[in-house]
Amino acid sequence: MQFNGTQKLIGTGAQAEVFLYEGYAYKVYKPTYPAEWIAFEKSQQKAVNDAGLCSVRYYDTDDEHIIKMDFVDGEMLEKRALTGDITCFNTLADAFRFVHSTDATGIQMPLLKDTAGMGLSDADRDEVLEIITRLSDKEKNCVCHLDMHFLNIMLPRDKADYVIIDWMNARLAPAVFDYARTYVIFDEFSKEGLEAYKAIVLPNLWATGIKESDFMDAVRACTIIRKREKNETT
Ligand SMILES: Nc1ncnc2c1ncn2[C@@H]1O[C@H](COP(=O)(O)OP(=O)(O)O)[C@@H](O)[C@H]1O
Ligand SMILES: [Mg+2]
Repeated sequence: MQFNGTQKLIGTGAQAEVFLYEGYAYKVYKPTYPAEWIAFEKSQQKAVNDAGLCSVRYYDTDDEHIIKMDFVDGEMLEKRALTGDITCFNTLADAFRFVHSTDATGIQMPLLKDTAGMGLSDADRDEVLEIITRLSDKEKNCVCHLDMHFLNIMLPRDKADYVIIDWMNARLAPAVFDYARTYVIFDEFSKEGLEAYKAIVLPNLWATGIKESDFMDAVRACTIIRKREKNETT
């Protein structure tokens, strides 16, 4: 497919650029990005559409490196965060609760324990899988977004609601891993954000009865996985 010059860049990620073009958003991946991963992202989106987790639909184009998507006319939650408006953390807390309470019966999505070891050294894989297995024996699986942060939550202009995007990383796992993953992301990008996250969002996790030591083990597992991702993209 070819844009006619009227496309507008609206988002940039590590592997793709997103353009607004003729009323739709187009995610254009780098040619080096594996086409199977894009096909996987499309299947993930279908799963979250069917589960009622996200209304944004993905469509095929004649280029396997370009996904056409419903356009969300609004802004990222990040914009509100940058104004110092602390309510963005309440929205984040709500987004977690919404995702984790969704009925996951029959959803076509991989288990975290089946994919988490990919690309890790033997020692890292053993450590990560031991933690996931142990916590999965205690806690029930639910849908986890596993990349929940202010750039993946959008606020549509015309509604008082939010839309969670970018479901590539989503897996079935105990909710503690979703909280842990976002903890690792804040720890990396914003110490101030991490403090607010601990104060406003994590109490919802403690309310589920999780022990702090189990949470810190999940943080450890997510840190190892994150380290691998960063090596992949650099
Ligand atoms: N459907 C959409 N409508 C409007 N903007 C979008 C849409 N999808 C993505 N974006 C914008 O593009 C950015 C990157 O998209 P995202 O799917 O999160 O890609 P990445 O995997 O690179 O993070 C988002 O943060 C958002 O600003
Ligand atoms: Mg994103």
